[in-house]
Amino acid sequence: MSQYSAILGTGASLPRRAVSNQELTEFLASRGVETSAEWIETRTGIKQRYLCEADETNCQMASRAALQALNAAGVLPDQVDLIVLATSTPDQVFPSTACAVQAEIGAKKAMAFDIQAVCSGFVYALTVADSMIRSGQVGNALVIGSEVFSRLMDWNDRTTCVLFGDGAGAVFIQASAEPGILGCKLHSDGTLGCILNTTGRIDGGKIVGDPFLRMDGQAVFRQAVSVLGSNALELFESLDFRLEDLDFLVPHQANVRILHSVAKKLKLPEERVVITVGMHGNTSAASVPLALNHAIEQKQIKKGDNVLLQGVGGGFTWGSVLVRM
Ligand SMILES: CC(C)(COP(=O)(O)OP(=O)(O)OC[C@H]1O[C@@H](n2cnc3c(N)ncnc32)[C@H](O)[C@@H]1OP(=O)(O)O)[C@@H](O)C(=O)NCCC(=O)NCCS
Repeated sequence: MSQYSAILGTGASLPRRAVSNQELTEFLASRGVETSAEWIETRTGIKQRYLCEADETNCQMASRAALQALNAAGVLPDQVDLIVLATSTPDQVFPSTACAVQAEIGAKKAMAFDIQAVCSGFVYALTVADSMIRSGQVGNALVIGSEVFSRLMDWNDRTTCVLFGDGAGAVFIQASAEPGILGCKLHSDGTLGCILNTTGRIDGGKIVGDPFLRMDGQAVFRQAVSVLGSNALELFESLDFRLEDLDFLVPHQANVRILHSVAKKLKLPEERVVITVGMHGNTSAASVPLALNHAIEQKQIKKGDNVLLQGVGGGFTWGSVLVRM
């Protein structure tokens, strides 16, 4: 049994096509849906998002991100013990996207399964993989967040369709005597399921119910701001970790105004908050690993930094993972 798991490599993958606010606004106008590039950017911080075309899949993006993370760690696919993939937008009902990725990258000996916690999916997946490593069940894991949220968009609903994008991010973690993942704290409140959901299902060969994402934006906004600050402080207290020792916050990238409010609650200067929502939009479970990978590539986050990863979203779910890089 190992005391910790540690992140050895990160990776990311985006669809081919970046769609600017202006391009999206023109597309929506052609359908009679009124919005503006300026409204989107000032209310959310989003400047563009990447959207999959018909031939692009969740599995392809997840596999590319996974291979990049393995490459960064200097590990071969057939050395991977576990693949945990967080998604709410799998390519198919089953088998899981994690199993499809296993086949795609040739991770022959891995066990593989999906986790569904919507925009908190990545911190949930990382917590599960970390627990399995620390309990000695596996020696390493690929943890992936990968989404094609564009396939859940109602392009007639301007309150949601301007917010989301597609993409994948991954980390490779391994048992380690040194920290590593310092601690995790997850929460759910199923009574708030109604504020953000896609309730449709397949039944008798048909889609029954609503196949689109629906959201009470203001309720989600209020909830996110209220839970993320207290969740961070709860985790720090349980670890005897001092707020002033935190180097970076890598939060779920939904709305820049949510990120600023959480940073203010934690008294963190803005340069310590990784913000990629402008480039990617909200990519749900992919947003945290995409942002982490970006900050590492930009040499913003370096070895030894204390980094807080935070997710929040449908369920309602939220959670934090504190990592020493
Ligand atoms: C969705 C969100 C951006 C809306 O911003 P807001 O400042 O709360 O805006 P409101 O909902 O108060 O709407 C203000 C006005 O803008 C309008 N509006 C909404 N979307 C618009 C758009 N794309 N373009 C132009 N106007 C829009 C509304 O209809 C409303 O008009 P009204 O005052 O005439 O009724 C914001 O609530 C948000 O980010 N919520 C959290 C979303 C989130 O994080 N989701 C994922 C969680 S994982």
